[in-house]
Amino acid sequence: MQPPKKYSFIRYLSSKKSVDDRALNRHVLQKLRAVVPVASVDNPLHVLEVGCGIGTMIERMIDWDILTYANYVAIDVDPGNIIESLHRLSRWVEKRDFKFSRSSGQSTLIKMAAGNVSITFHPIDLYDFFEKNKDKQNWNLLIAHAFMDLVHMPATIPCFCKRLKPGGLLYLTLNFDGVTSLLPVLHDHLDEKIITLYHRSMDERIINGKQAGGSRTGRKLFAQLQSAGAKILAAGSSDWIVYPAEGCYLQDEAYFLHYIIHTIYEELNTHPSLDSKGFNAWINKRHEQIERGELIYIAKQLDFLAQLTGSL
Ligand SMILES: C[S@@+](CC[C@H](N)C(=O)[O-])C[C@H]1O[C@@H](n2cnc3c(N)ncnc32)[C@H](O)[C@@H]1O
Repeated sequence: MQPPKKYSFIRYLSSKKSVDDRALNRHVLQKLRAVVPVASVDNPLHVLEVGCGIGTMIERMIDWDILTYANYVAIDVDPGNIIESLHRLSRWVEKRDFKFSRSSGQSTLIKMAAGNVSITFHPIDLYDFFEKNKDKQNWNLLIAHAFMDLVHMPATIPCFCKRLKPGGLLYLTLNFDGVTSLLPVLHDHLDEKIITLYHRSMDERIINGKQAGGSRTGRKLFAQLQSAGAKILAAGSSDWIVYPAEGCYLQDEAYFLHYIIHTIYEELNTHPSLDSKGFNAWINKRHEQIERGELIYIAKQLDFLAQLTGSL
C-alpha cells in the first residue's frame, strides 16, 4: 500500500482494531470476566468508557459476553468520532443476530438473545463530563482504552475512582510503556535519536497547562492506581506487534503503520536537533518499507484491571 495522501484519524482507529485485538492481555481480560458483577434486566451493569473513539471497545465487550444487561455511556471529546461510532455500530449489529434501535439523538439500544445493552454517546471532554456528574457515584466499570497516555494521571485517576460505585472496576488497557521498535534498522544512530525524541515529545506534552500522559504511562499506573485507593487485580503486557506475513499485512494494518510513521513525522518535523533532509529521507524509507511489506513495528504497552476497595 502506498502512503496515503491524506490521513484520517477515524480510519486509523478502525485499522487499529485488529492490532489491539491481538494485543489485549488475556490474563487481565480473564480476571475481568471473573469479577465483573452478574447483571440482570433489573440490575444492569453501569459502564463508562472515556475516550471511546469510534466505539470499537463496545463491539469487543459484547463479543466477549461481558455486556449482557448494561447501560453503557461512551464519551469522546471529538464529535466526529461519536457520529462514526453510531454509524459503525449500526453496521456491526447488522452482521449479527441483534436488533439495533436509535431511541433519540445519540442513544441506542442493542437487543441480543441474552440481554439488552443501552448505549449513550456524549461528545464531551472528560473533565466537563465529570464536572457535570460530580456528585454521582454511578459506575460498576470504567474503561479507558489507549487513553491514559493522553491525560494528566495524578488528577484523572482519583476522578475515575470518585465516580465508581464501591468495589467498582477500572479496566485500563493499552498503556504505552516506553519502547518503540521499528525493524529492520535503517541507521543505528538516527533510528535511536528519532525514537528518543519521539518519546520525549510524549513526556513534554502539555494539555490545559498540565503534563499529559507520557512515554512511561504503563509502569507509572502501578503507583498511580494504588495511591488513588484502587487495588490492582491483574496487570500484563499488551504490546502492539505488527509484521508482514509473506509480504502482506493483515486487514488494514498497512494503513495503521503509515499512520504511525506519519505521527512521528508530525511530531518531529520541525525539531531543531534533527537535520530535516536526513529526517525526511528516514520517514520516506519507513513508508517504503511498509509498501514493500518489510516493516515490523513493536510498541510496549500494559493492561490493568483494578478495583476500588469495598464490596461489589
Ligand atoms: C488514542 S484514541 C483511542 C480511541 C479508542 N479508545 C480506541 O482505542 O480506538 C484517544 C481518544 O480519546 C479522545 N480524547 C482525548 N482527550 C479527551 C478528553 N479530554 N476527553 C474525552 N475524550 C478525549 C480522542 O478524541 C480520541 O478519540
